[in-house]
Amino acid sequence: MSTWVNEHCVSFFQLFCIRVVKTGRIPQHIAFIMDGNRRYAKKYSVKCATGHSKGFDKLSETLRWCLDLGVPEVTVYAFSIENFKRSEEEVNDLMDLARDKFQKLLNEIDQINEWGVRLHVAGRLSMLPKDLQAMVAKAMLVTRHNNKLRLNIAYAYTGRDEISRAASHIVDGVASDQLTADDIDAHLVSQSLELTEPELLVRTSGEVRLSDFMLWQVSNTVLYFTEVLWPEFTIWNLLAAIIHFQRHALPLKLEETFSETQKNFLDKLEISRLQQLEKMTLG
Ligand code: FPP
Ligand code: MG
Repeated sequence: MSTWVNEHCVSFFQLFCIRVVKTGRIPQHIAFIMDGNRRYAKKYSVKCATGHSKGFDKLSETLRWCLDLGVPEVTVYAFSIENFKRSEEEVNDLMDLARDKFQKLLNEIDQINEWGVRLHVAGRLSMLPKDLQAMVAKAMLVTRHNNKLRLNIAYAYTGRDEISRAASHIVDGVASDQLTADDIDAHLVSQSLELTEPELLVRTSGEVRLSDFMLWQVSNTVLYFTEVLWPEFTIWNLLAAIIHFQRHALPLKLEETFSETQKNFLDKLEISRLQQLEKMTLG
């Protein structure tokens, strides 16, 4: 069984319900703030690390549901830059969990490719331990041709940091004459970010804040907050979120276009990101 996509978590009845929900509009990108792992650990008197590990298991179930629903992009908030302020023990446990899961992903790469999952880790990767940086970069490079489901993991991430990094790339673009000040508009900023706009954002555990997650991207996103703790999230919670989206979504927007200068800048930005990943794999 694959670690990253749980194959055994959908019954026939659930598949039938998925089919019914699929007769309506399915969000093309869902973002999750996976909150409540420590409260779950407390509720069941288990270690905090067990709560986070159960949180990962829930992510792999959620990916199975999203594949069945035909959702092509999922973004999850797995570790905020603020989370570095948690106890050393918890930060180490979370880094070890990530090491374990990324290593498993590299070991079971054939299975991941079969599912067509492309992995992207968004955040200030330089803040991560060097060995984890190398694993993450490898995982991104080896899955980059998959196109069924793009999984973005926000790690060492905050929305404000992502916007600052995009601003710094744009400043470099102007300094090196690839762009002029007139080329800078909201569309260029959007495309210089690592993450694209989600159509639906789900936060579990009853908290109703964005906690510095995808701040630029959520301007038109449908928000859905639920009391359930992330490790206890079920397919029924997900279907309820999608039905909420079907009731509240705005009509689809037309694609915007870029000028030649903007396109050249964005192409170069993508190439430089790829080169950085290749360097990172060397450790
Ligand atoms: C929030 O719950 C959750 C986290 C800070 C970590 C989320 C991480 C995972 C689900 C594992 C993902 C791992 C990989 C490799 C993708 P909390 O700790 O804030 O819990 P609380 O709100 O109850 O205190
Ligand atoms: Mg929390």
